[in-house]
Amino acid sequence: MTIPTLPLSDGYTIPQIGLGTASLNDEQIAPVIVSAIEAGYRHIDTAFRYKNQRGVGKGIRDSGIARQEVFVTTKLDGEFQGNDRAIAGLDECLRQLDLDYVDLLLIHWPLPQRDEYVSTWKTFETLADSGKVRSIGVSNFKPAHLDRLLAETTIRPVANQIQLNPRITRSDQHAYDQAHDIVTVAWSPLGQGKGLLDEPTLQTLAATYGKTPAQVVLRWLTGLGIVAIPRSSNPERLRQNIDIFDFTLTAAEMDAISALDTGAEKRVDSDTSGH
Ligand SMILES: NC(=O)c1ccc[n+]([C@@H]2O[C@H](COP(=O)([O-])OP(=O)(O)OC[C@H]3O[C@@H](n4cnc5c(N)ncnc54)[C@H](OP(=O)(O)O)[C@@H]3O)[C@@H](O)[C@H]2O)c1
Repeated sequence: MTIPTLPLSDGYTIPQIGLGTASLNDEQIAPVIVSAIEAGYRHIDTAFRYKNQRGVGKGIRDSGIARQEVFVTTKLDGEFQGNDRAIAGLDECLRQLDLDYVDLLLIHWPLPQRDEYVSTWKTFETLADSGKVRSIGVSNFKPAHLDRLLAETTIRPVANQIQLNPRITRSDQHAYDQAHDIVTVAWSPLGQGKGLLDEPTLQTLAATYGKTPAQVVLRWLTGLGIVAIPRSSNPERLRQNIDIFDFTLTAAEMDAISALDTGAEKRVDSDTSGH
């Protein structure tokens, strides 16, 4: 199973499906990573906040895959914003992962009330030259936050990881990202497996294509040019979530899924508000 990649603005590429790891601890995540890599995953999403980077690193090593074959994202949350704290934050992530570099380092939340995301980004820019990280990006940034980064700093974020699924389509943010050559990465792409997958539109399309509602959602996301990072600790669903490139939704079907939008995005404006 080969997963397509998208180009990043700095010349690297990112696999369009990655494995989400939130809520799984070190012991739980390590064998999941091994199964995922065996199934064909080449992209893992973690964060300092998930307290599972040791397990993620162990899983990568246990899988036997060469380091350069797998794209690893981690994120630094509020405790690493301002005053060059991101330098120590990245070192700690690498220590926990037991890796020499990460492929993508993200500011986990803008935390605009603290007004430190611009200075934190300037620190990220120095890290991009350090050999410890390839690409730098952001998460949960809105157009106003990105406008400031683009106006006040030098390197453009390659990606913006945001909550995005058929009920929360974020079409304005995705359009902004596309217009600025920023790849949109969807977190909770399956709506955390709750309710969304029961939508009749998704059930009907799943029956049409002999797929599951989750596969239809992931095909919709990838069809829109978005990267998705579904989490599963179930080997069968892990396989299912990357087995999505043998069918194509029509434009009308894509629109019907987008029409499920309720706009009810989760607030992630404080350091305790999300994954
Ligand atoms: N940047 C941020 O602020 C932020 C915030 C939230 C999440 N994230 C990242 O995004 C990742 C994904 O989001 P998420 O973990 O919140 O939720 P998600 O991927 O939308 O949903 C995960 C849930 O869906 C179930 N599931 C997975 N595949 C399925 C399938 N094929 N059919 C039915 N159910 C399925 C899983 O159960 P099983 O394990 O039993 O399969 C799990 O309970 C996270 O793990 C994390 O890496 C980032």
